[in-house]
Amino acid sequence: MKILVLNGPNLNLLGTREPEQYGHATLADVQHLCELTAKALGHEVECFQSNHEGELIDKIHAYGRLHRDGQALGAVFNPGAFTHTSVALHDAIKGTGLPVVEIHISNVHAREAFRHHSYVSPVAKGVVVGLGIQGYALAIQGLAGSAL
Ligand code: DQA
Repeated sequence: MKILVLNGPNLNLLGTREPEQYGHATLADVQHLCELTAKALGHEVECFQSNHEGELIDKIHAYGRLHRDGQALGAVFNPGAFTHTSVALHDAIKGTGLPVVEIHISNVHAREAFRHHSYVSPVAKGVVVGLGIQGYALAIQGLAGSAL
């Protein structure tokens, strides 16, 4: 089964962006970790990153169709700053019924107040927060486990 690993704005900068917050691993490292984790569970990942809200929505729609056709388990999604602003992403997840595990590398609840609210959490199956890039692997395991 396919699993989408979806990353939102600025996550292409991983490795050089605020390393005290997000660590030194790059988005390519995240992709490698996700590929290994999914493979060990008998699944395959597609990794997609965009800085554009509409492209993220289009990808959620596409995977909503794959999920409905029994070809995709769901998505692991780090919406970046859109977490805190996007009703449109909330509606896309809700409207497609795509199972989504939300993930944040940093502990958003230990940071600025504007990061404490997520529009995605109410429509997510689960949330992984503050465990670094390892959180992506845990989110894939959670998605795969909850589909059993
Ligand atoms: C983030 C947390 C968000 O608040 C921030 O805007 C990001 C990254 C994280 O992975 O910790 O871009 O989603």
